Amino acid sequence: MNDERRPDECSNDGRLAPERLDVDPEVMRRLGYRIIDHLVAHLDGLPDQPAAQPTDPEAMLAKLSEPLPTAPTDPESVLARLERDVLPAMAHVQHPRFFAFVPGPSNSISVLADALAAGLNVFAGTWYAGPGALALEHTTIDWLRQICGLPASAGGLLVSCGSMANLTALAAARVDRFGGHDMRKAQRARIYTGDQTHTAVTRAAHVLGFGSDQVVSLETDAAFRISPNALAAAIRADRRAGHEPFAIVANAGTTNTGAVDPLRALASLARDEELWFHIDGAYGAPARMTARGRHLLDGIEEADSIALDPHKWLFQPFEIGCVLMRDAQALERAFAVQPAYLRDVSRAVANPADQGVQLTRSFRSLKLWMTFQVFGADAIRAAIDRGLDLAEKAEAILRGAGCWEIVTPASMAVVTFRYRRAGLDPEAIDQLQSDILEQLLRDGTAVVSSTVLGGQTVLRLCTINPRTTHADLQRTIDRLGELAIAHGPSRQPRG
Ligand SMILES: Cc1ncc(COP(=O)(O)O)c(C=O)c1O
Repeated sequence: MNDERRPDECSNDGRLAPERLDVDPEVMRRLGYRIIDHLVAHLDGLPDQPAAQPTDPEAMLAKLSEPLPTAPTDPESVLARLERDVLPAMAHVQHPRFFAFVPGPSNSISVLADALAAGLNVFAGTWYAGPGALALEHTTIDWLRQICGLPASAGGLLVSCGSMANLTALAAARVDRFGGHDMRKAQRARIYTGDQTHTAVTRAAHVLGFGSDQVVSLETDAAFRISPNALAAAIRADRRAGHEPFAIVANAGTTNTGAVDPLRALASLARDEELWFHIDGAYGAPARMTARGRHLLDGIEEADSIALDPHKWLFQPFEIGCVLMRDAQALERAFAVQPAYLRDVSRAVANPADQGVQLTRSFRSLKLWMTFQVFGADAIRAAIDRGLDLAEKAEAILRGAGCWEIVTPASMAVVTFRYRRAGLDPEAIDQLQSDILEQLLRDGTAVVSSTVLGGQTVLRLCTINPRTTHADLQRTIDRLGELAIAHGPSRQPRG
């Protein structure tokens, strides 16, 4: 308790006057323990909870819209209301039976680290303000660099997410190639992607001022991979037409199927054509920690830049993404601007604020650093390996059930499949897949998502959560089968 406080600054129940936007340390401690208890119970009890609680957005808005509160409310009752009305309404992306999109299986140590980082409110934009935090960021980025096999001279930056990592890398690539910020010089530039490339890349290109016609999306091959021959032909044709090929964006694990583009061949093409070689490894890159991943991702170490997301397959709570650059100075060349109001900030060592979009940034590295320290890299490698195993196990269960067609086999912890039923037209069979998922979401057993491959709706499991058990897989696939059977053969597609 701060001895300087006057007695009249405390209300009768021990809270400080709200004008100071503070509560008594005892109140903070009690609330903090309650929040920790909530989190521990939540994480511990997840397997027995529904994986999602679908809620009508209109109903949620109606329940929670209210005038700006002007008077204080007891924090315990605010928490109680949150627990009752707000927190249950969510898809539990770290639930062991959440297989949709790219799940977000975080870990308990990181959750505590994030709380610590928020509590200390470290400013991790400059060495002046957060030298400890930035030393940890430097260390963790170096670990990620090693994981991806880039040379010791490479560098990088922690950012909010994979989308921002892709944007940051392409911004640096643009400055590197066109020598400044004048987009007029890049009017004939072409960026090459595949039809499986994440829309984050397209969006990044648009934000940077590249028009839709400047982002070339190549049709991928039967395994959903960019074909180096097709790409080489597109580059040649573009040069003949007076365009300026500039960058290749390859995938180290596509979101749809876990496909990995032929990275080594694409790297060599990029080198021959003098193009920037960027790899979107937002979810897949950490798999290089495992023997299988290292084999699958052969050539990733040739990249000029890599986007990867510790908040995906390195088991971190949102938001932590990372951009790695072969040329450690490339970010600063693209982003550094030095205003007078930051003249006291030393630039002896590069400041993250000069390497990306954000000036004020949080102590993101803490959670990743603590995870590696507490569990060790071997445990993390084993957890990633488990994700690879689980997708293979899911594929085996699906094949064994006899009613599923495997559309793409397990790759980077993703398997896609489709319920087979004779006698339905293609539209009805597509509708059947979507209906199964809708039912599954409603009953809460698991969350599975769908996508479209080759014009067909397919179901998709992404199994990166190390807490998923074989029983979870079996239960999910059994339930999908039951729902498909219950759907009834005569149901017509919806209009
Ligand atoms: C391959 C890939 N790239 C980029 C992204 C975008 O990352 P974020 O959602 O962290 O912005 C994702 C997200 O799932 C992804 O899977």
